[in-house]
Amino acid sequence: MPRYAITTFGCQMNVHDSERMHEVLRRAGYTESDDPRAADVVVLNTCSVREKAEQKLLSEVGRLAKWKQTHPEMVLVVAGCVAQQEGEKLLTRSSGIDLVLGPDNIPELPRLLDDIGLGAPPLVRTVFDLEAPRFLTALFDDGGSAPTSGDAPPSPPVAVRAPTAYVTTMKGCNERCSFCIVPYTRGPERYRPSAEIIAEIAGLVSAGVREVTLLGQTVNSYRDPSSELARAPGASPDDPDESEFAALLRRIAAEVPGLARLRYTSPHPRHLTPSLIEAHADLSVLARHVHMPVQSGSDRVLKRMIRRYTRAEYVARVGSLVARLPDLSLSTDIIVGFPGETEDDFAATLSLVREVGFRGLFGFKYSQRPYTPARKLADDVPEAEKSERLARLFEVSEELLGAHLQGLVGSRQRVLVEGAGKEGTNAWSGRTERNEIVHVAGAEGLDLRGTIVEVVITRANKHSLQAELSEEARAAAKPLPVVPAVPVDTPKPRAAGERRSLPIVVAGGG
Ligand code: 5AD
Repeated sequence: MPRYAITTFGCQMNVHDSERMHEVLRRAGYTESDDPRAADVVVLNTCSVREKAEQKLLSEVGRLAKWKQTHPEMVLVVAGCVAQQEGEKLLTRSSGIDLVLGPDNIPELPRLLDDIGLGAPPLVRTVFDLEAPRFLTALFDDGGSAPTSGDAPPSPPVAVRAPTAYVTTMKGCNERCSFCIVPYTRGPERYRPSAEIIAEIAGLVSAGVREVTLLGQTVNSYRDPSSELARAPGASPDDPDESEFAALLRRIAAEVPGLARLRYTSPHPRHLTPSLIEAHADLSVLARHVHMPVQSGSDRVLKRMIRRYTRAEYVARVGSLVARLPDLSLSTDIIVGFPGETEDDFAATLSLVREVGFRGLFGFKYSQRPYTPARKLADDVPEAEKSERLARLFEVSEELLGAHLQGLVGSRQRVLVEGAGKEGTNAWSGRTERNEIVHVAGAEGLDLRGTIVEVVITRANKHSLQAELSEEARAAAKPLPVVPAVPVDTPKPRAAGERRSLPIVVAGGG
């Protein structure tokens, strides 16, 4: 049986696309290899959102191309956003690449590999499916995918290992943020019919998934192409920022009652309208955490970024959300050193971070990207200044997160256990509704994976919490099977249909 290996760079959308590639390849008769050097087909699923990510990929391609000189039978596939962005140019940059595959062309992967096996020259397939968008769906063990209508969930469902899953709702982006390459690598917005989304979630839940994260580049601009959604409470037909996202959330909550937690990423602040706030207030399935990228706290910079909101509008919108749900946590993305960003602009960003009180922050140094409008602006903030601003930004965000985590010591929290922690430390780890990472002790010998347990927080770490399983939860938990579960961070070949646990991330750098 031919063996494959996939390396994933970048965002959740890429993690999701890689999952689907695993399934497409397994269904076509491939088996996974942990070691790319032992694989017949090596796929690099790439990210081009920042220059650093792209450089990382190119050095990996270089390494593999060199390896290929002595192992010419290996097939090297470059997929994802760099593939879409560079297309044919990648073939001239590296002679080792056999296939360049765009994000919309993943279903064609086995067929293209067959062509290469028959001796086809290097291929480039980077075509957006604008006319008839296809949405990648979890595949199930019975040979089917989740049904495309809202009927019965697939049967029999696959044995799911990870209790969390990503589900696509839309792809592409119609915003034109001046720094961002995504509209060029992922194409214009295309939405998935709501019945299809519901069916996939229902299938996953019946297979054991507890938490779903809805994915989209601007996930809350969602509109149902099949016009099946009732207007959500609070939705104003006259508001140009209104979408049908709140209506979608309500339909999921009503039609998949077995779902324990629902998250979404990444929303755009413009579409944080009253209908979405109402949905958060009404739906207990929605997690008490929203990641809402702000990018800058300076109006001058926001304008040059073409973000289409002001600082005051952002603060007012997230303020209304938190006013309805005071225990909700906010996290965000911020770019430092955007062209023309002065010390005053940056100070405004720091003050916004404090004003909103973000409890998670991904900070990035601006890097110029091909095709983007900001290329016309001089990249004039020196690299050392960008690094310094990023360090100051992280200092503030760590202080805010630290104070928040410290405040939770002694409290009781409900944790969705995602997997086993590292050996020799704690038995299990998972997340609260607000997305705090919790390491749970006092559960030795118990099988907590996929369960929501009550814990008592005993200590705050820098980015996470330590906890003890509550007495009640310990009494209710089931014992581990005789053969101990394999910790999620120990890679092992997966049998067909097995799913991979997703990484837990709270703060990052750029
Ligand atoms: N430079 C730096 N950061 C960027 N991002 C997007 N484009 C760039 C760029 N050119 C960041 C934004 C976005 C996150 C996914 O990546 O903060 O929200």
